[in-house]
Amino acid sequence: MGDMSYKRNLALIGFMGCGKTVVGRALSRKTGVDFVDSDVFIELTHGIKINDIFRKHGEDYFRSLEAEAVNILANEEKIIIATGGGMVKNPDSMEILTKACRVVYLKSSPETIIKNLKNATTNRPLLASANNKEELIRHMMGEREHLYEKYADITIDVSSGTVNEISDRILKAIGGKI
Ligand code: S3P
Repeated sequence: MGDMSYKRNLALIGFMGCGKTVVGRALSRKTGVDFVDSDVFIELTHGIKINDIFRKHGEDYFRSLEAEAVNILANEEKIIIATGGGMVKNPDSMEILTKACRVVYLKSSPETIIKNLKNATTNRPLLASANNKEELIRHMMGEREHLYEKYADITIDVSSGTVNEISDRILKAIGGKI
């Protein structure tokens, strides 16, 4: 038996709209390993929508719920976790995540992200009120890029390819199993 305390889960990180959730689901289908989206987990455990958490309590409070969620999820035996795009801003969350998970960064071009996020404001309160959404996305990506790079064990370019191809790329990069 291997050391079960070390990187036994798989976590997907990357900017909003890079495809963490759809790719995580595809990986789950292919491997039979359970999948959890941290935003959905927070909504279910607290009975409140992400948009309402931000509106009523602010971003700092959301980050504390995110840290609490990752603490629970990272303790699982073997799961695939899709993180929220801003989890990398909280070093506490990332310390927990990187200890228990192999971290895969889904790296995308701003153009792809902008296209994917064109009409998506559900769960994305940080983009909802922007006058110039494209400019804000480029700015936020620029600010966070080094964090995604810093925490990634593996980086996968997701600017091209289908969800099926991208999930196969990840499986190949991690040696075929989670
Ligand atoms: C956020 C990303 C969202 C969600 C919240 C904050 C961010 O998750 O956690 O709106 O700061 O980038 P997705 O990356 O799944 O959109």
